[in-house]
Amino acid sequence: MATIKVNDNGPLRVSGEIELLDGEGNKIQAKETFSLCRCGLSDNKPFCDGSHKGKFESEVRAE
Ligand code: FES
Repeated sequence: MATIKVNDNGPLRVSGEIELLDGEGNKIQAKETFSLCRCGLSDNKPFCDGSHKGKFESEVRAE
């Protein structure tokens, strides 16, 4: 099963068997576990490059 964890003040952590596709449906090579940028500041989108640190605040909780 694949999971996506919404990290506090950081990226979406993706684990498990999943395909990451670009806007045209082409596969983007990724490791088995990777982090997707949620703040918009990464220079390596769609991946997180750590640029969020100290600049992005969001703590999502399940209702
Ligand atoms: S969430 Fe890490 S750089 Fe955007």
